[in-house]
Amino acid sequence: MPQFINLLCLLSLASLASARLVERDTTRAPGFGSPRAVVVEKQPQDAAQLDINKLITVAKTIDQAAGAEDGAPPSTDVPETVITAVDGSITSAGSGTDGLLQAMHGDTPPDLSTGSVLQRRAIAVGDYDQVFVGTGTGPNDRDASINGIGYLTYTVLSNGTYDINACLNFCDLIGPCIFVNLYYEFNNVLTDPNGHPSNLKCAAYSEVHSAIEKTNFGGQTLIPGLGPTYIQQSGGWALRSPPAPATPDGYDLVFGPVNALTSSPQALNSVNLNTYDVQACANLCTRQAADPRFGLCKFFNIYRISNDGIPSTYACNVFALVTGEEHLVSPNGIVIRDSRGYARTNFLVDGGFEAYADCDWFCFTEHTANWDGITNTTVGFMDATVFYYETYAYVGHSVGLLGSAYANEYYPGTLQSKHAIQTIPGKSYVVSFFVDNTFSGAQFEVDAWHEVMWNGVAAQTWQAGYHDWKHYQTTVVGTGNDIFGIHGGKAPAYSFIDEIYIFQL
Ligand SMILES: *[C@@H]1O[C@H](CO)[C@@H](O)[C@H](O)[C@H]1NC(C)=O
Ligand SMILES: *[C@@H]1O[C@H](CO)[C@@H](O)[C@H](O)[C@H]1NC(C)=O
Repeated sequence: MPQFINLLCLLSLASLASARLVERDTTRAPGFGSPRAVVVEKQPQDAAQLDINKLITVAKTIDQAAGAEDGAPPSTDVPETVITAVDGSITSAGSGTDGLLQAMHGDTPPDLSTGSVLQRRAIAVGDYDQVFVGTGTGPNDRDASINGIGYLTYTVLSNGTYDINACLNFCDLIGPCIFVNLYYEFNNVLTDPNGHPSNLKCAAYSEVHSAIEKTNFGGQTLIPGLGPTYIQQSGGWALRSPPAPATPDGYDLVFGPVNALTSSPQALNSVNLNTYDVQACANLCTRQAADPRFGLCKFFNIYRISNDGIPSTYACNVFALVTGEEHLVSPNGIVIRDSRGYARTNFLVDGGFEAYADCDWFCFTEHTANWDGITNTTVGFMDATVFYYETYAYVGHSVGLLGSAYANEYYPGTLQSKHAIQTIPGKSYVVSFFVDNTFSGAQFEVDAWHEVMWNGVAAQTWQAGYHDWKHYQTTVVGTGNDIFGIHGGKAPAYSFIDEIYIFQL
């Protein structure tokens, strides 16, 4: 029925409109369902699959294991999160990952490592379980300390007793700590916090380790006159129920923890990290450059990987497509744990116009449940509309149009969201969308233009010209209750708009 009404309006305005049309085929217009001048591709939804073989190879070859170094003084500082591999290539510190590091930390490094804020988590000693015990302390007993991933830092405890509680309290103080290794190191001279000589070391990890990782037997001669170092009574304790990581600002947990990774399409980047740092992975997604076909990062998956029963690395994979548990896989040869998927919070309702589905094949309208097409009523007619027509859409079946739908005149229109954007005042947001200016062909689309309207003011204007589906983005600042619109169109220079997102930066 809407089509019929539109047709009546068209007839009533036909004489007014005809005087303003430039010379061209007046039977061609989106409102008539005419085909585009050229064939354009829809977004390839299933392209750019994550390469799981590369992930497996990295997990089997990377060496992120560490323990308390002999030379390093005890400390409560935890190491900064760094990238250890990019897209299957293991990186050595500082080699070519500077851009990515900046992507993770920004220009001014934020305080990513929660452990550097020394705040007790008030985890009781009884919340830990012993994972393995050490050998005795007889003259000939020998043991080894853990050499494993997720090493954070260590402290020296008073060696009057084998002070398990003091070691667990130290873990409580180090934000990401979920495991400690407590052991004596002989033939080294260390000092406890009270200034007394001691040989009792407590090493903190963000990963749970097992006895098969006790591979550091010492053996270095550190003090002239003393023999090589050796280890005794190396025990391990793990937090029984580690707290779930905080959900990063601007993201929502989609799934997890599960013991499988997601092999979603539209993979944008795949890195390995030296620690299970959800915020660092979120930062990587937030700062990931837009893909020409898929746009911005909208989803990430972070997980722990073990190889041959030994924790080997942490993976952070970022995607342009949000997926749930439908793509979860458990690759052969490695074990995935603590896998979580987070989606970027979209502040715009129905940015793909998909909620408009009032027909089976072809229809269009100026008003949907979520959008208003605003026309300059003194001179224009249907200058901003929403179409249900799969042929015109980039993704799905619906799409927005700027420019007089029946080619009545050449005035611009505005597609405005009916829902005020619930922003945080002063925060920056990125507006991301795709535009297709091919409808009338290269000659008649030369004047195609569009602009992002933020509270009625143009945030950015593009003299786009002729092109097929192309990604655009601009940055706006929230005031708390913002009105979003996209303005433009100059029939026959039509602009189709699809896949609009507003994300927090
Ligand atoms: C404590 O550590 C000091 C310094 O290494 C060492 O001389 C002493 O024998 C240790 N005491 C015990 C009980 O192991
Ligand atoms: C409506 O169109 C006329 C003619 O181009 C223009 O002068 C006027 O500013 C427009 N009004 C609005 C609200 O865009």
